[in-house]
Amino acid sequence: MQHEVPKTKWKSTGNQGWEKSNLNGAGYEEAMASMKLMGLTERKPVIAGNWKMNKTKAETREFVEAFKAMDLDEGVEKILIAPYTDLDTLVEGLAGTDIGAGAENVHYEGSGAFTGEVSLDMLKEIGVGYCVVGHSERRQYFGETNKTCALKLKKIFADSDIVPILCVGEKLQVREHGRENEFVGEQVEEALLGLTVEDVRKMIIAYEPIWAIGTGETATDEQAEDMCAVIRKKVYGMFGAETAAVVRIQYGGSVKPENIKGLMAQEDIDGALVGGASLEPASFEKIVDYNRE
Ligand code: 13P
Repeated sequence: MQHEVPKTKWKSTGNQGWEKSNLNGAGYEEAMASMKLMGLTERKPVIAGNWKMNKTKAETREFVEAFKAMDLDEGVEKILIAPYTDLDTLVEGLAGTDIGAGAENVHYEGSGAFTGEVSLDMLKEIGVGYCVVGHSERRQYFGETNKTCALKLKKIFADSDIVPILCVGEKLQVREHGRENEFVGEQVEEALLGLTVEDVRKMIIAYEPIWAIGTGETATDEQAEDMCAVIRKKVYGMFGAETAAVVRIQYGGSVKPENIKGLMAQEDIDGALVGGASLEPASFEKIVDYNRE
């Protein structure tokens, strides 16, 4: 058998995880099989609702009261991600529950002349546990790039315990040209560049194909699985087998109570990032409790 020669693009930089990078992901299947035997691929499901630009504080309060009163699966990590103005209400309302609160964005600078932006310290003071980085709507409408994602991830890991949720995903045109693997692989590579294995093991990556967001058109279970596996293989190439085995990868894009079960049954899908269907407690509860009949 001929072995692929690992394509090494980055120089060694001391203790960074990517010093031994193997960007082709050579040996991925074998490595994952042995991680599985060691029980390292038992990842806790994580389901997050991203409210985007929806809900006032009063509506947040109403949602939280209804949602936390529901009988929610304790085996699933649950997160509500809300606009900045709702976050104190959200954190207060969720205190004492096992439901986490998350922000939709953060700036990579600590403070300064960045009108309209919010800093990490501001989020830390409110007490959020999670923060989305590089959502496709931020990339599309607000100029977010892989580079800004990398800066934000570095800032979050350097100065907080907040768990970032990095979003990646291709446009329809990219998929039509058959370039989705390469495109998403590059997004992951550029955003994670410079992080350590400890950082990456803690974070969540969300695969959200842009053509499936808010369109009602979900990726098939196979399409979603294939891309989550591409992402895991990229993490393997950059940070090694153990990191690839433990990092959690979500699918997002028109996730609903009707399709969550099929998606969650896939080997490399560890959770979901839910937009529209997270706005009502009843439909979000059905998604969180996908394991129950
Ligand atoms: P929808 O579930 O509304 O398609 O949104 C997905 C999304 O962008 C979550 O971040």
